[in-house]
Amino acid sequence: MHLSLLGGSPILPVARAVAATLATHLTARTVGRFPDGEFNVRIDESVRGADVFIVQTLSPPAESHLLELLFLADASRRAGADRITAVIPYLAYARQDRRAKPRVAIGARVIADAMATTGIDRAVMVDVHASGIEAVCRFPVELLTAVPVLAEAMKAVVPERAVIVAPDSRAIRLAEQYARRLQLPVAAIHKLRVSGKEVKAIAIAGDVAGRAPVIVDDMISTGSTMKAAADALIAAGCVPRFIIAVTHGLFVGAAVETLARMSIERLFTTDTLPQHERPPLAIEVVSVAPLLAEAIDRLHEGRSMSGLLAHQ
Ligand code: R5P
Repeated sequence: MHLSLLGGSPILPVARAVAATLATHLTARTVGRFPDGEFNVRIDESVRGADVFIVQTLSPPAESHLLELLFLADASRRAGADRITAVIPYLAYARQDRRAKPRVAIGARVIADAMATTGIDRAVMVDVHASGIEAVCRFPVELLTAVPVLAEAMKAVVPERAVIVAPDSRAIRLAEQYARRLQLPVAAIHKLRVSGKEVKAIAIAGDVAGRAPVIVDDMISTGSTMKAAADALIAAGCVPRFIIAVTHGLFVGAAVETLARMSIERLFTTDTLPQHERPPLAIEVVSVAPLLAEAIDRLHEGRSMSGLLAHQ
């Protein structure tokens, strides 16, 4: 079974880098719109009998990019692909993985079912908001993590007397992984989400006084979580300059203004989301292309994923 690599529009530079690492090319495809705005795709090379990997991120607008992924999967299946793997560096809707309130949809389940319906056999995702996504998907999911590459990039700038801070309870597992790699203690913040844009930090568990805070999370969306964490940390007597590491830099709404009000020394993120319009912050973008290439290579060859997975 030969490998065929398809790239989605918002993540083409990463897909090209993956192709270069694997010494292959991106399978030609055309993504277009009809005059009424309807979306269409065409795969311009044969994928019959192929082991197809579709690299597509669900960056905003997530619905268009999801549709592009679904159409590429459907086109691959109808063109005779043997196996289809969706490589999704950033999975939107992952925060809607349960009924957090009455009468809401489980968005993650809806998109997982749509993916299964188009014939996606397997998915690869990076630092998904909740690992419960595995149970939501009808197909196997390989959950990769960018923590090793981000921790390596940060190593040189993290002071000796630092503390890794989880800005909410969901980030604790991630914080522990950074702490293990950087050999630092962990503190965690009890966060209360008031609305999509507003959060409050209620309390801090752990010793932060006099330490340099390194706040880690899966993503920055509006920046409210980071700002609330920073305010609470300053009130608790930490060094008032912040190093931040997040896998997914969404930077939506007033994120840039909110983050600009924090004293950020360095903000490390990855290219799971396009970062071409980089906010005027001290941002360093680390590429996940080598990680994705390694995962694709191992899955194609049927080799162990050991060392790449988030739960290890
Ligand atoms: C939520 O639990 C996530 O891990 C992030 O903390 C959150 O989505 C970040 O959103 P914002 O930047 O809007 O606070």
